Amino acid sequence: MDIKALVAKMTLEEKAGLCSGDDFWHTKAVERLGIPRSMVSDGPHGLRKQNDKADHLGVNDSIKAVCFPAACAAASSFDPDMITRMGEAIGDSCQHEGLSVVLGPAVNIKRSPLCGRNFEYYSEDPYLAGRMASAMIHGVQSRGVGTSIKHFAANNQEHRRLSSSSDADERTLREIYFPAFEMAVKREQPWTVMCSYNRLNGVFASENPWLLTDVLRREWGFQGYVMSDWGAVSDRVKGLAAGLDLEMPASDGVNDRKIVEAVRAGKLDEALVDQACERILNVVFRAVENARPDTPWDMEAQHRLSAEMAAECIVLLKNENGVLPLDKADKIAFIGEFAKTPRFQGGGSSHINCFRITGALAAAQGLDVVYAQGYSAGKDETSDAMIAEAVAAAKAAKAAVVFAGLPDAYESEGYDRQHMRMPACQNRLIEAVAAANSNTVVVLHNGAPVEMPWIGKVRGVLEAYLGGQAVGEATVRVLFGDVNPSGHLAETFPLKLSDNPSYLYFGGEGNRTEYREGVFVGYRYYDKKEMPVLFPFGHGLSYTSFEYANLRLGRDAIRDTDTLTVTLTVKNTGSRFGKTAAQLYVGAVGGNYIRPARELKGFEKVALAPGESRDISFTLDKRAFAIWNEALHDWYVPAGQYEIAVGDSSRNLPLRAQIAVESTAQLPRHYDMNTIFMDLMADPQARPLLDEYMKQTQSQDQDQSEAASEAITQEMNLAMMRYSPLRGAISFGGGAAAEKAMLALLEKLNQL
Ligand code: BGC
Repeated sequence: MDIKALVAKMTLEEKAGLCSGDDFWHTKAVERLGIPRSMVSDGPHGLRKQNDKADHLGVNDSIKAVCFPAACAAASSFDPDMITRMGEAIGDSCQHEGLSVVLGPAVNIKRSPLCGRNFEYYSEDPYLAGRMASAMIHGVQSRGVGTSIKHFAANNQEHRRLSSSSDADERTLREIYFPAFEMAVKREQPWTVMCSYNRLNGVFASENPWLLTDVLRREWGFQGYVMSDWGAVSDRVKGLAAGLDLEMPASDGVNDRKIVEAVRAGKLDEALVDQACERILNVVFRAVENARPDTPWDMEAQHRLSAEMAAECIVLLKNENGVLPLDKADKIAFIGEFAKTPRFQGGGSSHINCFRITGALAAAQGLDVVYAQGYSAGKDETSDAMIAEAVAAAKAAKAAVVFAGLPDAYESEGYDRQHMRMPACQNRLIEAVAAANSNTVVVLHNGAPVEMPWIGKVRGVLEAYLGGQAVGEATVRVLFGDVNPSGHLAETFPLKLSDNPSYLYFGGEGNRTEYREGVFVGYRYYDKKEMPVLFPFGHGLSYTSFEYANLRLGRDAIRDTDTLTVTLTVKNTGSRFGKTAAQLYVGAVGGNYIRPARELKGFEKVALAPGESRDISFTLDKRAFAIWNEALHDWYVPAGQYEIAVGDSSRNLPLRAQIAVESTAQLPRHYDMNTIFMDLMADPQARPLLDEYMKQTQSQDQDQSEAASEAITQEMNLAMMRYSPLRGAISFGGGAAAEKAMLALLEKLNQL
């Protein structure tokens, strides 16, 4: 298909029309030229395809579909292959339903536990989020269906989401808020990218040429089309010029006319409209060429897959005295309404109309399980009678499992949480049950961290997150040991909300949110501050035990252009089959840059039989050591020592080794009279010239330093001189001669 030739046949009106939706979910057809409508649909953890009344908040009905674990859960699997399988299943469903693009994955960074949409996002860590997003895109697109990675960029709160400006310095954007998009674009070429609602440093993402063209296309090489989030367009003409190809949904022709007028008035180059059309049509026809409407959609099989996946995502946070797994022969009390009707997905545009939902109680049929409601999630209340019933059930059982977490209204697209607490009625219930039965375990259904005032009183905690429609089956399998839990946290659980680094600034003032914590997001902050947390990033227990040993670095020293191989051995030292998530972190040892203590740069999920051990390897490249340098406007590896640390959580890193990394980059240098001596001393190329200058001016200096030596030591002298500007040599004794020599030195230095 010659897309350029096709666009050449279109009228200006037809072209402008193609740059916005036909309705809520379709691009426009141009029948006379054989251009079909093309349907997109939410996303991201299943299909929300609306055939009738459309909306972008999940209010109206959509077709029956399968809800897989939401991203908060999926990321905890630390298993990109599993996410790829989820993508393949979603891709198949899209084929069956004639959809060209599924609107996901959503990869915004969890800056604060309060963001109402955290459940839809993967992680507080950009590397983990990038790996998961890439895996999802790979899976969906392998089925000939497109993805729309969203929401580009820095859309980390729901508060004022259509007007607020996320204000962050470039280093923070490049190191924290961009890399998940960057990795996915470079590795997987998503067919489309969805720009976010918010402004970025004052400019709407939907009309930001730096974001949509310079970074996304010129630097990262994005080939597909950019669509707006639903209603994110402010100035359509500016947006088109900036690189926003498709406005969604329809604007009833209003913005199409503005494009036509701007072209006619000579304010918008028609070539830009052509370019947007080419990009859109490339994807429209790619979908046509790849359409396989006869693809079956086996919902039963997908339900089973969803259950398997949910079990891989569950994180065993606490397991004192080995309270879990439970014994199937024992009487167990399931307490809490979520045991019957689990909370397994979040509210808003990702809300799926599930063809089936299995709660834990139903899944535990045949076992000796009794149930007490404990609280009403809808009313968010309990009563003395409900508590008494729960306590009686707990007392009569060997162990009590309280199913708790956040009711629907607590977290959703469209608004943020105000606090990190669980409902008071549920906290009360947990305390009462724990007092009645020492073998109390809490199963949590929530999309983001909660405070756990009762943590010291319960023996076990299973974080099941919003695990999709089959989460009940998965939970029962893990509780009773049919599946050994292997999830690890993709986010830190702070002890309390005010510990979070964005706490002082989250939500911002008016339409401005400053990202003042910079790169210190999540564990990057807690670890640097050496703060206690409730559960650290990467944490996750197992019913077996693992030993990490024998760390080997391919080399002792590398240049920043080399790669480094890191190998280690993981052994299952327990008596059950199990999986662990080996995590590799890199941190600079000392150095002059303000950096996190360590950052995740590699991970692998390893499955091992009892007694089995296996070598695993990671390959680190420049990016594993680099920071964004604004002067260089590029990635930069400061020369020095780096620590490689490996283990099963950000706070349990038994294997450590150091490597020296040499930098091949030269930072732009400019020296003048206000440069301080210390900076010259640290520059290996400048140092010989400085030494030469010092020798020349030595006789005067000698007199001075002899006089001074009685009062101060040589060390103090050096330390004080370090911060002296070069002009100091003139004021403090050198006069005109020193000025002349210094100017000559500067000339040489600036020619280096
Ligand atoms: C959401 C997007 C979603 C779109 C379409 C918007 O409100 O932010 O994530 O894809 O609606 O439903």
